[in-house]
Amino acid sequence: MIDFKKGYIIKKCDNIEPLKEIQNYLCKLLHKHFDFYHDDPFTSLNQLHKFAPNLNATQLNEKRVGLIEDFNNEIDCSEMIFSAFETIITQFLGPDILAQKKSNVVIQMPNDPNPSEIHRDAPSHSPYEIVLWVPMVDCFKTKAMHVLDHQKSNVLYDFLAKNDDWANFEKEATAQSEYVPVNFGEALIFSTTVLHGSHINKENETRVSLNLRYKNIFSPSGLKNQLQYFKVLKTSDLLKIGSELQFKKIDYNLQKNKKEID
Ligand SMILES: [Fe+2]
Repeated sequence: MIDFKKGYIIKKCDNIEPLKEIQNYLCKLLHKHFDFYHDDPFTSLNQLHKFAPNLNATQLNEKRVGLIEDFNNEIDCSEMIFSAFETIITQFLGPDILAQKKSNVVIQMPNDPNPSEIHRDAPSHSPYEIVLWVPMVDCFKTKAMHVLDHQKSNVLYDFLAKNDDWANFEKEATAQSEYVPVNFGEALIFSTTVLHGSHINKENETRVSLNLRYKNIFSPSGLKNQLQYFKVLKTSDLLKIGSELQFKKIDYNLQKNKKEID
């Protein structure tokens, strides 16, 4: 049984090879889109701000959008991340799993003035989903994400419902959240119900990370269109057998003999 009372955990992968493959592929795309080359993947990622200096927010975003498109067109990231973290994802969700079709790639250069404000992913995402935040480099101090655990998040939701005071809610959430250091080869796995975000990266290294969501096929969906956003990743024999009957054309002979069958 996973101890998930905090609403988040850090987990080491079962298999590092798919993560190395993703990291290498990401570096190839960074070299192409940001026009530089270095043979060490960690240097290419950590020092991206030095290889591609003086980009304004719009230019950085344009390059990031192009890179994400290539990335998702050419590799099946959700499948690869699943094979790196299969044991823990299956423990959370069981054998019938949906995976986000397209991975997000986040690039946070040192002193980027636009970090991700504190927020939660539900209800646009189902409260029964898990988020895998997977860094492609070691993340520590302000280079890491910050998260507020389940209990503290809930206290603040009650405060907001009672006082309708967004400014103090945000101030308290930011003050109470904790940096969560995560290394390459690990994932921060969190519930869509807990508050999380990032501050300005004050370290002298660029953070490059992926985030992907997984959910059980039978759990209630969020507000996003589940069929557009997710793809079927794994199904059990029970689901296959059950759905075969559910989607068969009605057999009228069986209908006539319904009493005997019941
Ligand atoms: Fe989020």
